[in-house]
Amino acid sequence: MKILITGGAGFIGSHVVRLFVTKYPNYQILNLDALTYAGNLENLRDVKQAPNYKFVKGDIADQNFVDQLFAHEAPDAVIHLAAESHVDRSITDPMAFVKTNVIGTVNLLNAARHLWQPGGYAGHVFYHVSTDEVYGSLDFGPEMFTEETAYDPRSPYSASKASSDHFVRAWHHTYGLPIKLSNCSNNYGPNHFPEKLIPLAIHRLRTGQPVPVYGKGENVRDWLFVKDHATAIDAVFHRGKPGETYNIGGVNEWQNLKLIELLCDVVDEKTGQAPGTSRQLIKFVTDRAGHDMRYAIDSSKIMNELGWKPSVTFEQGLAQTVDWYLENEEWLNHVTSGAYQDYNAKQYAGR
Ligand code: NAD
Ligand code: DAU
Repeated sequence: MKILITGGAGFIGSHVVRLFVTKYPNYQILNLDALTYAGNLENLRDVKQAPNYKFVKGDIADQNFVDQLFAHEAPDAVIHLAAESHVDRSITDPMAFVKTNVIGTVNLLNAARHLWQPGGYAGHVFYHVSTDEVYGSLDFGPEMFTEETAYDPRSPYSASKASSDHFVRAWHHTYGLPIKLSNCSNNYGPNHFPEKLIPLAIHRLRTGQPVPVYGKGENVRDWLFVKDHATAIDAVFHRGKPGETYNIGGVNEWQNLKLIELLCDVVDEKTGQAPGTSRQLIKFVTDRAGHDMRYAIDSSKIMNELGWKPSVTFEQGLAQTVDWYLENEEWLNHVTSGAYQDYNAKQYAGR
């Protein structure tokens, strides 16, 4: 089986590529990534020589490129992760999100349909990886997002992801495309770009800079270790029912301020600083426009039907994450200085 994984040079995509390349040596993994600012081939140094792995640079928003790639490579399945993924960037440049997340997804859907439909859809899967943000924002209380929760996206990012989800389902209902979909909560872990809260905070604590907490820091997110998201994607890809959606979460809600305080304490412990040192760097700043208050995912469907569950507690995952950033200073320095883009250019030179 040849699987096209889009966005494989990004945070989650690189963990999915690694899992599939190493766990399924009989699969051919084709990683398609535009290498935007978020794409970093250094994330995949350890698998780049694997005989069942190949990288292709390209933009999913470019219809001709996507059509030619499908004609040339004829993938049997798609796992689609490529996206503009940062909410703050969607507030300043929404059109980039429309292009990649909406138009890019429709280009892939069209190309998959045109390739697969003539010979029948048996053996094919189009798996779209999405977010819990499509469901909107919850109040504080017991309510959680289920697969039946009505869509209510509120940021340009979540609106673009919701739109892509609707297109994916439309291709299933209208053309019979064998789709699978999952909506996941906030990921954290190694290789996370330091514009998102946890890696940004680790980087700033490590360099003695203030850690910005939006508003009062009372917003709640449900955090999942990225490697557990990758195993959930493996479960849905192989055992999920065609046409179905699976919510994926960590059953792990944290208020931002409490989370940052915990992270400060972990950093102090790991770096041998006096307890309370890092907390002094917490700085309350202007809130994000339209900031969703709370996300919480009910993961019972994927747990009960596919037998998936997270493998680590938050304390374990956070400790592993801080260790990874402290041990991979070069990765972090390359990302924060922009040097990873030189690495990307060298890796791609002549190909
Ligand atoms: P990321 O920003 O780290 O990586 C995105 C990748 O997509 C990058 O490698 C980038 O180069 C590539 N890309 C962007 N535009 C492209 C284009 N036009 N053509 C080809 N490649 C392009 O994102 P991430 O955090 O790894 O998220 C991956 C997917 O998972 C996204 O679809 C996102 O919506 C979804 N998701 C993310 C989270 C999270 O917490 N990070 C949670 C739930 C769902
Ligand atoms: O819920 C899943 C989503 O989680 C994914 O779909 C997105 O791709 C991913 O970026 C993430 O979105 P969030 O907006 O929740 O993540 P972020 O790390 O940007 O912010 C987490 C919380 O922390 C949020 O409430 C905003 C707040 N925040 C963020 C930053 C960057 C701060 O308080 N300070 C900051 O500097």
